[in-house]
Amino acid sequence: MKIFIDTANLDMIKEINSWGILDGVTTNPSLIAKEGTDTPTRVKEIAAIVDVPISAEAMSLKAEDMIKEGRELAAIHPNINVKLPMCIDSLKATKVLSSEGIDVNMTLIFSAQQALLAAKAGARYVSPFVGRLDDIGAYGTDLLGQIVTVFSNYGFRAEVIAASIRGPIHVLEAATLGCDIATIPYNVLLQMVSHPKTDEGIQNFIKDYEKSKKK
Ligand code: G3P
Repeated sequence: MKIFIDTANLDMIKEINSWGILDGVTTNPSLIAKEGTDTPTRVKEIAAIVDVPISAEAMSLKAEDMIKEGRELAAIHPNINVKLPMCIDSLKATKVLSSEGIDVNMTLIFSAQQALLAAKAGARYVSPFVGRLDDIGAYGTDLLGQIVTVFSNYGFRAEVIAASIRGPIHVLEAATLGCDIATIPYNVLLQMVSHPKTDEGIQNFIKDYEKSKKK
């Protein structure tokens, strides 16, 4: 499974890239706003520090405007793909942008039917939001499994990005269900590294090493 980081923070991207595990970056308007910048500026900065796919969200609401904005975002750097929110205009824009070789990440996916339409329109990625479904008392993980099954039944080339990840369990569920990608917040990536038994084991090895040195 590919690991993307879900952030627009440059230090976090640099740090995770230094771990040797980074396959991509996803941003959204809320993450960009948190950094006090704008999408074109920030994705250009990200593209200058990592050589991986980067999602940049278009904010237009009409298909023709989305197409124009999508072309402008994609022109910033070859690694940039265009994030569009699931709706009819986005389907129309996806058809055009994908036919021009511009990758689209269809975001705000909350049903397998939406993912099916996005894939048929030519989206390169679909982003089901697991955590936000959990937030409303649904079981977000079910959606991941449904989309993976539908895409595999018909051989759609679109990649499933498990998004709105809230903890390591979501990552594990995405991986066991066969999602192509999980886009993971920085704090969850840190949580994935740790295990109390690992920490305990390291401390014990250090203690024994120090003891054996004294002999
Ligand atoms: O980037 C899209 C998605 O991952 C957002 O997650 O935590 O705002 O629901 P969240």
